[in-house]
Amino acid sequence: MTGFRNKEIVLGITGCIAAYKSAELVRQIIKQDGQVHVVMTESAREFISPLTLQTLSVNPVVMELFSLYEEKEIGHISLAERADLLVVAPATANTIGKIAGGIADDMLSTVISATRAPVLIAPAMNVNMWENPIVQRNITTLKDLGYHFIEPATGDLACGTQGKGRLAEIDDIVDEMITVLSPRDFSGKNVLVTAGPTREPLDPVRFMTNPSSGKMGFAIARAFCRRGGAVTLISGPVSIAPPRNVRFVPVLSARDMADAVDRYFEPSDIIVKTAAVADYRPRSVSDQKIKKQDDSPNLELERTTDILATLGKKKGNRILVGFAAETQDLIVHAQEKLERKNLDMIVANDVGGSETGFAVDVNKVSIITAGGPVDELPVMSKEEVAEHLLDRIARLLETRQLSC
Ligand code: PMT
Repeated sequence: MTGFRNKEIVLGITGCIAAYKSAELVRQIIKQDGQVHVVMTESAREFISPLTLQTLSVNPVVMELFSLYEEKEIGHISLAERADLLVVAPATANTIGKIAGGIADDMLSTVISATRAPVLIAPAMNVNMWENPIVQRNITTLKDLGYHFIEPATGDLACGTQGKGRLAEIDDIVDEMITVLSPRDFSGKNVLVTAGPTREPLDPVRFMTNPSSGKMGFAIARAFCRRGGAVTLISGPVSIAPPRNVRFVPVLSARDMADAVDRYFEPSDIIVKTAAVADYRPRSVSDQKIKKQDDSPNLELERTTDILATLGKKKGNRILVGFAAETQDLIVHAQEKLERKNLDMIVANDVGGSETGFAVDVNKVSIITAGGPVDELPVMSKEEVAEHLLDRIARLLETRQLSC
């Protein structure tokens, strides 16, 4: 899942200073093609105006359980049934306690008790309230019953103290919502993903590299995580933040990447090599900055280890997926790499233009499975490419399990 297309989200907002942040959550859901129905508790209305949320969500905001109009038009049962996901953000200790105790005495707690949809709770409160054993017991009870939680963050709190209790970042709540809605078809699988460029030094201040931004590999790592995989992400130097919940291993050179892959290879079930690893490095690296000369210096290069080809020789039952960045004869070159490196799948990536491929948000790829057809995809976001790739890998896993 890359967003909330065709999904109806019920967003419960409770009385806490962080309630103003829920306006941004509504915006994010809409931006990612979802429908939002906001339900506010009475105290939430002290912190943010229902009109703000109604304007942003383009849907009536629901507040009163016993309002004849609201109950007729958007009754609690209808909301509970139409929801694909119910999110409570921010959730106070009071509301968490009500849900854990089975109390349904206002619109929000009634909708929650009547829904069969998954419920995600994003608590926000003072640190002492968060650490209160009764609150913690309620959270444990709800987790045991299958309610999902996203932990509050640690930092400055509105009451002037410091500690755990801040509402999680909105981007993280959105990521968790998509995770809850995603299939868990990689649960129990160890996944190794490589991303980004490598840097091959000439001296302490100069290096050879390429424009890989890490976006493609990070999108793949994030998609595996959302779909239940335990992900190790090895990346060359990039300026984007790694996805939540991955084991992140930063590296610099092709040699560092080869060592890291070797370290995490053994327990992996699936390996996807998106990294743009340098094929050559300078034969010698100067300890000091190389001085400018009048003549043109000769730069002697040597081959780096082909990490993917090395893995192809020892992969056993693991699923090994490579990428092929090509500017011409895309499919022919990709097929050749698939066979020579003994891969199960290769993603042929057209990097000829500036609109797709390196360092942009969209990509144009064809996915080729060993012995299977060439699946040409249109231009799409790297998140969508990642989902398509995972669907193909899931199918491959299924076929393998059937033939066991
Ligand atoms: O990071 P982005 O900005 O989002 O850009 C994404 C991307 C264009 C880098 C990515 O989609 C992509 O195409 N990655 C493959 C880049 C590449 O190095 O392709 P290649 O055809 O040179 O290598 C083929 C395969 O061998 C790749 O899986 C590569 O990781 C692997 N390889 C290459 C050289 C080497 N020494 N060791 C390797 O393992």
